[in-house]
Amino acid sequence: MMPPISSNDSMISVHVPLPDRAYDILIGRGASDHAGTRIAALAKNGRVALVTDRHVADLHADKVEASLIQAGLSPTRIIVPAGERSKSSATLIEVCEAILAARIERGDIVLALGGGVIGDLSGFAASIVRRGVRVVQMPTTLLAQVDSSVGGKTGINSPHGKNLIGTFHQPSLVIADTALLDTLPLREFRAGYAEVAKYGLLGDAKLFAWCEANWQDILSGGPARDLAVAASCRAKASIVVRDEREDGERALLNLGHTFAHALERFVDYNGERLVHGEAVAIGLVLAAHFSVKLGLCAGQDASRIAGHLAQVGLPTRISDIPGPRPSTAELVDAMKQDKKVSRGNLTFILMRAIGEAFIKRDVDINEVTAFLDEALQER
Ligand SMILES: NC(=O)c1ccc[n+]([C@@H]2O[C@H](COP(=O)([O-])OP(=O)(O)OC[C@H]3O[C@@H](n4cnc5c(N)ncnc54)[C@H](O)[C@@H]3O)[C@@H](O)[C@H]2O)c1
Ligand SMILES: [Zn+2]
Repeated sequence: MMPPISSNDSMISVHVPLPDRAYDILIGRGASDHAGTRIAALAKNGRVALVTDRHVADLHADKVEASLIQAGLSPTRIIVPAGERSKSSATLIEVCEAILAARIERGDIVLALGGGVIGDLSGFAASIVRRGVRVVQMPTTLLAQVDSSVGGKTGINSPHGKNLIGTFHQPSLVIADTALLDTLPLREFRAGYAEVAKYGLLGDAKLFAWCEANWQDILSGGPARDLAVAASCRAKASIVVRDEREDGERALLNLGHTFAHALERFVDYNGERLVHGEAVAIGLVLAAHFSVKLGLCAGQDASRIAGHLAQVGLPTRISDIPGPRPSTAELVDAMKQDKKVSRGNLTFILMRAIGEAFIKRDVDINEVTAFLDEALQER
């Protein structure tokens, strides 16, 4: 069952009907203007710890804070450095201590204002401070609006790998103000767009076709942007509601990600060379071509996917990554480090067609190696 979508003035509301932990995602231009009243309804003691990063604090925190104060709330601002490095154990403990210093208790709220880094870090902190206080997600990147703020996965990175320490902690509310994306650098916006396209590719051919027709309006901030965020949240929510803890179907959300994570590991998570959504764009194209090579999917679908992502300005080939190229062995090794390996064989999300992804376990390493040998040949 798809979660219902309802519209109230220009805002779109998507309901995530998890048993005991249902919540709403409020989407639209100006959605953050409603932050104060919506959060005041949740925070009965009136205290809010507003966690954000330096960039977002300078751009958007004053306005959000004003809305909280106007609704009678007392916010305390907690600012961490921008970037993936803040998903560390040291920063986690600093944020937890700052939340405690702000006297946040069970009746109060942690508000995560920022991209996926802030959402993952603050969500994790909220889940362990006092054994769990509520978190409201206010995502400010496209990636966070369509992916990381919904679904309850929180966490930090370890020297052993990304996101290896964390919890499931569903938000009490998500407020996705699409106007906040106007200040996002184009490169970050496009990276988030790869995840929007992913939802079409994994389960909704009509959504992908709609993206092909409307991508310019999505990028420029027209009405299609709100609809794209809503369609993505609906797609993610419906999967999360059926499989909250990724025992099965939720793995479909990893379409393109086995390849993407290997590429990110190869560049050592150097965002100047490759940001996550760019790796996902290349990964989606590789997953499609791999599906073609295994005789599962028509070649024209793979070309159509590559064509659309390239048109949007995303990289689609391994050779699009600046700097030295990986070898097949380096990529296969990186894939083996990823958590989707069992007994030496790999799990991939593959496609029968656009909109028809499925989970394929026990993919033979030799098939992957032969495919990557070919993929690395192309310029
Ligand atoms: N929990 C999940 O389910 C999930 C899913 C996908 C990704 N993630 C995580 O999300 C993180 C990536 O998130 P991200 O891409 O949002 O990165 P990010 O949070 O680092 O944000 C990217 C950059 O944009 C800046 N920024 C944020 N909002 C802005 C705005 N409105 N205007 C201008 N600049 C702005 C940030 O300061 C940062 O420099 C990764 O750590 C990844 O592991 C989590
Ligand atoms: Zn992703």
